[in-house]
Amino acid sequence: MSTLVIKDLHVKIEDKEILKGVDLTINTGEIHAIMGPNGTGKSTLASAIMGHPKYEVTQGSITLDGEDVLEMEVDERARAGLFLGMQYPSEISGVTNADFMRSAMNARREEGDEISLMKFIRELDKKMEVLDMEQEMAQRYLNEGFSGGEKKRNEILQLMMIQPKIAILDEIDSGLDIDALKVVSEGINQMRSENFGCLIITHYQRLLNYITPDHVHVMMQGRVVKSGGEELSHKLESEGYDWIKVELGIEDETVGQA
Ligand SMILES: Nc1ncnc2c1ncn2[C@@H]1O[C@H](COP(=O)(O)OP(=O)(O)OP(=O)(O)O)[C@@H](O)[C@H]1O
Ligand SMILES: [Mg+2]
Repeated sequence: MSTLVIKDLHVKIEDKEILKGVDLTINTGEIHAIMGPNGTGKSTLASAIMGHPKYEVTQGSITLDGEDVLEMEVDERARAGLFLGMQYPSEISGVTNADFMRSAMNARREEGDEISLMKFIRELDKKMEVLDMEQEMAQRYLNEGFSGGEKKRNEILQLMMIQPKIAILDEIDSGLDIDALKVVSEGINQMRSENFGCLIITHYQRLLNYITPDHVHVMMQGRVVKSGGEELSHKLESEGYDWIKVELGIEDETVGQA
């Protein structure tokens, strides 16, 4: 089993404190969902975990199986088994989608134990079929000209190929049509195992109808302010966030000004 532990995490961007003490523990075998109004720090948390250079950790810790993640470079974090599916995936010209995935897979393997081209192609074909993706997508430059939905589907393809220990998926459902939503959910559900943990950032219960989370958290003011089980997401869907603000005496849920 692997465990990602985030303790009292404070993160600053250009002198503005965005995260103000996030506590969260994700074990493999578990699916967590983070919900919360716009501008409350959800994507910032994802970026900080993956080591985006713009985000400065000023306090607290992130560890993966006891190893200090904050001491790791971005590529080391990926090699350690962390994966980020971004809200807005970037386009990388000159690198094909297939090459990118093969390099990422091999980076997680010992030297001399690289995946053979045959085996890679077999795996890729299988997974692209699950995700109902056209073969040619693998040979195109990474995300270049991909539609919004294709980018999201492709993030799940990468996830299924790279097989990280812990994945953070930021709004993987945004911009997906109904069929794509089902396909992407099916991919994530196939990943469910004792060796895989996931943090899904989403605004909508809709996705969680297909992927049942074990834990649901609400983020406000740069903190996790409430946690519960699956039922919490249903309550948010029907009642919104106001009751939490009343319960906790929060007036402005955003991270506020510097
Ligand atoms: N690079 C940056 N420079 C300045 N401010 C930033 C930067 N990144 C994030 N912020 C600010 O931090 C706050 C939290 O942003 P974040 O993207 O984490 O919110 P979010 O919870 O993911 O919102 P959404 O649900 O709209 O995606 C926002 O006010 C945002 O403007
Ligand atoms: Mg966001």
